[in-house]
Amino acid sequence: MTNRNEYRTIAHMAIKTKYRNIRADFKLRETPLFKKLVSLEPASTKNTLPITWAKAKDFSVWDDKGNKWIDMTSGIFVANAGHANPKIKAAIKKQLDSDLLFAYNYPTEIKKKFIEKLLAISPKHFNATTLLNSGSEAMDTAYKLIKLYGNKTGKKYVVSFTGNYHGRGLSNELISGGPKSAAWAGVTDSDIVFLDFPYDMKAEFDYKKLPQGTDIAGFVIETFQGWGCWMYPKKFLRDLYTFAKKNKALVCFDEMQSGFYRMGPLYGYMTYGDFKPDILGLGKGISSSLPLSAVLSRKELFDIDKNADLHGTHSGNALCVAAGLANLEFLSSHEEIARRKKTSAIFEKELLALEKSPLVRQVNVSGLIAGIIFEDKEDSMAIVRECVNRGVLAMLIPRNSIKLAPPMTITPQALTEAMGVLREAIAKREANA
Ligand SMILES: Cc1ncc(COP(=O)(O)O)c(C=O)c1O
Repeated sequence: MTNRNEYRTIAHMAIKTKYRNIRADFKLRETPLFKKLVSLEPASTKNTLPITWAKAKDFSVWDDKGNKWIDMTSGIFVANAGHANPKIKAAIKKQLDSDLLFAYNYPTEIKKKFIEKLLAISPKHFNATTLLNSGSEAMDTAYKLIKLYGNKTGKKYVVSFTGNYHGRGLSNELISGGPKSAAWAGVTDSDIVFLDFPYDMKAEFDYKKLPQGTDIAGFVIETFQGWGCWMYPKKFLRDLYTFAKKNKALVCFDEMQSGFYRMGPLYGYMTYGDFKPDILGLGKGISSSLPLSAVLSRKELFDIDKNADLHGTHSGNALCVAAGLANLEFLSSHEEIARRKKTSAIFEKELLALEKSPLVRQVNVSGLIAGIIFEDKEDSMAIVRECVNRGVLAMLIPRNSIKLAPPMTITPQALTEAMGVLREAIAKREANA
């Protein structure tokens, strides 16, 4: 949690470039609007930077005073296709003008088109999906599918990783963090088993730490450890996958942050090897805008228990799937794939160079997402604030890391400028250390 005094900064010179505009009177501090909303919403609202978002377009964010930042966060890994992408906006407008804004679970042409596109770009073994509204809902449904499969096959355990995050619902918290994450509700579940997250690249998958393989219904894996974008050692994950398949345990990846080309390929799990996961939890970049999430799997798994209800009131909402369809068409185009190749090469080169700083312990990067691990949390927090004062939005994480994930439409020039600002902020902190 940030502290209001941490935001006080000294007055500075105005900054004006093609991509940034920070007025001389800008101060990162709790504005009246921020304070008002904090008084009306839970205290966790305070975990974001106190910047008013008045407009967000492509890779830029403006506040109500005309300050303009290069967004290196995509909001929170959502705006993969850029904020207010013109193709997505046009699709939403077209849907709006058709007077079909909501249709519960009744069949709609636009939902069919979206599902067909999602399946067409995904590996062939995924042949069905259920659409939902948030990542938490998608992961709740993924967990339910694993349990239903376990009920049918006499397997009771679900295996997750310590520190992984799967959302805010009760079932999400049961499989997130560790065995005590849902203790606030008086709920613990001895059928959920946690493996330590393998931070050490030499860590080996050790099945002896798990219950009998044939008793495991499934593994739930966040494709990277969220707070620092920590990837799993490839061999570790390959051995886990082989073990799961041998024992007929389901493999589910939570692709909320890593999906939709964020790590390079369509889904982040593809960076680890030639896997055929049984379930994917998808959200965020699935629409780059409106609330939409999905669980991708096989028809026979969705139908394993015909009594299970896997939909909700707004599943496949017409406006959201219209946005999602335009987003998938945009992101999967050859032009965008070629563009991402160029920008991710710049991103990786610039980031790895930061490892020279004595303040930086390690950089984790894949495609257009990165976690910069600092020696000290105070350093990472101060550097994020300095970046903001200089016109670059970076992800405020209450740990010793900074996460960066720009909209994938960012130009090489803007990306290079943003990375230069980050270097300046690190250098200033080094000088003050
Ligand atoms: C890996 C992961 N899973 C699940 C969620 C939950 O998604 P939502 O906030 O849309 O419910 C998030 C959100 O940050 C996430 O990063």
